[in-house]
Parts: sequence; C-alpha cells; structure tokens
Amino acid sequence: MHPATTVTEHSAGPAREACPNSAHDRLCVDHPCQNAQMPPHPVDLAEKLSLFSERWSPKVVARLNDYEIKVVKVEGEFVWHTHADTDELFLVIDGELTIQLRDGNVHLRPGQLFVVPRGIEHCPIAKGEAHAMLIEPVGVVNTGDAGGSLTATYDDSLK
Ligand code: NI
Repeated sequence: MHPATTVTEHSAGPAREACPNSAHDRLCVDHPCQNAQMPPHPVDLAEKLSLFSERWSPKVVARLNDYEIKVVKVEGEFVWHTHADTDELFLVIDGELTIQLRDGNVHLRPGQLFVVPRGIEHCPIAKGEAHAMLIEPVGVVNTGDAGGSLTATYDDSLK
C-alpha cells in the first residue's frame, strides 16, 4: 500500500511522501495523484470475481464520480426490497439472473443488463451461481429498506 494512503488529513508529518506532481500541494492526500506512480491498468472483472466466493456480498472494484462499480456472486433467492432514492444497475457477467419485479420478471443472460428504477420493489433470484456487475451510488445498502441477515458489509478491499 502506498504510505500516503495511511494518512487521513491534510497535516504535515514525516511519514508522508511528497506528491509527485509538483503542481499540487506536496502533502495532498485525498487526491488521485497519490497513485501517480502506479501505471494505468484495467480492472479485470473475472480476476476480481476469482478472489472471493461469498454470495450476495458486493465488492467495490472502481468508483465513477459518486457511483461505485461492484461485482457480486449470487445464488438462490435474495430478499424483496426497495431503494427509495436510487436506480440500480445489474449487468450479468456469467450465469443467469432473474430480477423479480411485482409487474413481472426480467431474465438476464451474460452481456445483458437491467436498471431497476428507484422505488421499485425487486428481488434477484438465480437458480445456479451467477456473477454480475452493479453500478449504484456510493453508500447503497444491498437490502435497501428490507435489512435482515443478507445485508452486506461495505467492502472495497478489491478496489
Ligand atoms: Ni436492490
């Protein structure tokens, strides 16, 4: 891990490395330039998915403005729930996933996506194991208003 990432505020300290971009505050911390020495690299979704086996536990792999890109493994039926404040995108990578809605079901194969509109009750279900990518705002809880034992802990350890 880059040493600068362990510092949480803009204060001087001997352990800090100067920002490699001379145009920036040499002590800037919460800035993308702290990773300037890492070459650009793709996020490999299959590789990320190979790093865990839990079901219904989304992992953040990238951030886009105020949104997060997550990967998740699912199997069986989730819980009916609603996200009152946000839409939620499901893109199936592997396997088959059905998004149950009160108005009907949406069946997704690899390469297909569906956006659940905000406020619409939904319940994902997969007969076998399926892998999906999610796009949703930072802070969305997977079980929405329902809560319960399937509520996942926020996990950005694969980012
Ligand atoms: Ni949801």
